[in-house]
Amino acid sequence: MMDTQSNSQLILALSKGRIFDETLPLLEAAGITVTENPETSRKLILPTNDPNVRVIIVRASDVPTYVQYGAADFGVAGKDVLQEHGGEGLYQPIDLEIAKCRMSVAVQAGFDYASAVRQGARLRVATKYFQIAREHFAAKGVHVDLIKLYGSMELAPLVGLADAIVDLVSTGNTLRANNLVECEHIMDISSRLVVNQAALKLKRERLQPILEAFENASKGTQ
Ligand code: ATP
Ligand code: PRP
Ligand code: MG
Repeated sequence: MMDTQSNSQLILALSKGRIFDETLPLLEAAGITVTENPETSRKLILPTNDPNVRVIIVRASDVPTYVQYGAADFGVAGKDVLQEHGGEGLYQPIDLEIAKCRMSVAVQAGFDYASAVRQGARLRVATKYFQIAREHFAAKGVHVDLIKLYGSMELAPLVGLADAIVDLVSTGNTLRANNLVECEHIMDISSRLVVNQAALKLKRERLQPILEAFENASKGTQ
């Protein structure tokens, strides 16, 4: 790709919502204030108080792709998203300990998951997290038919699309509201800083103080 950015310009990729909201205090700790609100602005490139730093707003699952190809120098993405992407071309220096949740298997209340697994039943599992689900069930030796969804996984067992789902759980409110129960914990999730490997070398001077500020500020939140 053609290098259209000078080495003093930095682009940070964030998704709207919890990642943007929870990254703001870390940016503030690095002296960076985003001067437009992505919830009200239609702009996808947001200015900051630092003319050399801009924030691009992308889908959560697209953050690794923008950073991998150098369209953004760095970004913030969940461990779930990074596992699905594979992490190629990305340096992951800091666990920011934000957007914390867990990846779990859930079924309808009353469905006996443990005995279905024991009996070797072939389970239908709906998920947005195909790679994570595939690895999880393969490691356990459980045969599953995976059904790819892009959201509202909690609905799938309720309408007979799947026996189980693999999804993110935080408070458990969404599961409870839909009469589902967690039956297996797959992994804890938090968001990581990801940095383009070439930018890390070429823009080290600009990036280093920001990475340090993020690291110190995220330690302070634990
Ligand atoms: P999209 O809306 O584009 O489909 P998304 O639903 O993954 O993407 P967000 O809901 O903003 O986007 O989630 C961003 C990240 O925040 C996820 O990748 C995950 O790591 C984390 N996350 C998701 N849901 C929760 C939650 N309920 N509590 C805490 N962290 C969460
Ligand atoms: C996420 C996730 C679960 C829910 C879990 O959805 O996909 O549905 O949070 O959180 P809880 O255990 O606290 O209920 P999100 O809020 O991101 O909505 P979305 O469907 O727009 O992704
Ligand atoms: Mg979500």
